[in-house]
Amino acid sequence: MAKLITKEQMAEQQSFIMKLKQENMSYAQKYGHARLALTETYGCQQNENDTERIRGMLKEAGFEFTFDSNKADVVIYNTCAVRENAEQKVFGRLGILKHIKAERRDMIIGICGCMVQQEHITEKIKSVHDHVDLVFGTHALYKMPELLYKAMTEKKTVVDIESSDGSIAEDIPIMRDDTKKAWVSVMYGCNNFCSYCIVPYVRGRERSRTPEAVINEVKELVAKGCTEIALLGQNVNSYGKDLDIEIDFADLLRMVNDIDGVKRIRFMTSHPKDLSDKLIQTMAECDKVCKQLHLPFQAGSDKILAQMNRKYTKEEYLQKIEKVKKAIPEISLSTDVIVGFPTETNEDFEDTLDILRKVEFDNIFSFIYSRREGTPAAKLDFVLTEEEIHNNFNRLLEVQNEISKRKNEAYVGRIEEVLVDGASKNDKNTLSGRCKSSKIVNFKGDESLIGKYINVRITEAHTWSLNGEIVTE
Ligand code: SAH
Ligand code: SF4
Ligand code: F3S
Repeated sequence: MAKLITKEQMAEQQSFIMKLKQENMSYAQKYGHARLALTETYGCQQNENDTERIRGMLKEAGFEFTFDSNKADVVIYNTCAVRENAEQKVFGRLGILKHIKAERRDMIIGICGCMVQQEHITEKIKSVHDHVDLVFGTHALYKMPELLYKAMTEKKTVVDIESSDGSIAEDIPIMRDDTKKAWVSVMYGCNNFCSYCIVPYVRGRERSRTPEAVINEVKELVAKGCTEIALLGQNVNSYGKDLDIEIDFADLLRMVNDIDGVKRIRFMTSHPKDLSDKLIQTMAECDKVCKQLHLPFQAGSDKILAQMNRKYTKEEYLQKIEKVKKAIPEISLSTDVIVGFPTETNEDFEDTLDILRKVEFDNIFSFIYSRREGTPAAKLDFVLTEEEIHNNFNRLLEVQNEISKRKNEAYVGRIEEVLVDGASKNDKNTLSGRCKSSKIVNFKGDESLIGKYINVRITEAHTWSLNGEIVTE
């Protein structure tokens, strides 16, 4: 069982929230307006979910929010380390903030999340970006009130990037913008150590929340009107392995499916090696579970898969997909693919294309390999040139775009239930939402439909989205 952050520790943080609130109240009295905070997220859904916690703590501490860094009193960037470009973006933003802070000395700049959990990055921030006041890693999220209070009152750089053996903090305040859809983390960390990936180093070991904690969070969400739940974890199929009760992810899924008021359940991510027959069966049987599966294969060649430490072969992956298709014929499939792993040859890459053609995913997320310091793959030499890797990447998109379009065309004429997310920025009468299999559907309609489930007849298919019209009868 993962260690829980104790009630006393959480109460201590609550007392810092109160101290911040007092500070903020006297500020508001003096200046006639509240202190403003700005948050930005650079990473995955897990990071988005952490940012919702950061905003929850800030809100309880009396901050209001802005999108304008020129106006913000506190800026917090929640960062990602998975690829180099995510890190470069943050360094770019820090450069801009340096100029803003030069004019506004009291501004607090905080940077947190996966990127700063790496020591070499934090060293770089301390030496090159000395205008940063607050640095905290993924394990220190719950301590943000204390760290922020210190940064605001002591006027010195506060750093907490201690790594942890993996604890869980329950009951951190949370602020969610979307009232209909919510992410709920079921576990944290990753034990898989794929040879290219930094996540296990910055997120720590796998640890599951108790089913009670997950169920209670879902019930609270439903009580507030939320109907779509996305269960989150780096590898949800390992859920429960570290708990001292007999439970796995399929059991948890069924428990969430049984909650009244939940309408749609999604989950991500599944690791192919742990995708069990039981989970496939559970997906097929549970009516609220969306028939949608994100199953990253990363690479097609057995040699590359072994060097990636993925623990399955191309054939095993394809067999799992066949099982899924057989049990759930309407399944919508998506995946992650890495192009240009150091030892990948053009011949290896053909196996990746072969998987795309055989599976026919609805949608893929493809990435060019990015070297991550401290991972085993960082030591390998490249076989292909940058140009060859880019060519392969473009070929991958070409092959997939044709498949995605074809998959979408099969929707034309169907009636799909769409949860309306919002209106287009350019035209408030063009609404956008997602159908049960998660495809984006655009259609004409009134803004008052946002947040509702509407039946839409699909009229046109594009590569990335569908067009439709509201069914009126
Ligand atoms: N736990 C999830 C997601 C991890 S990060 C999973 O295992 O699927 C999301 C995706 O980023 C990965 O699936 C992988 O495709 C990609 N990724 C991870 N490390 C990368 C790297 N060093 N370079 C390029 N892409 C990477
Ligand atoms: Fe990274 Fe692999 Fe863990 Fe996914 S399963 S987070 S790719 S180490
Ligand atoms: Fe997510 Fe990036 Fe961290 S993908 S777990 S935010 S390294």
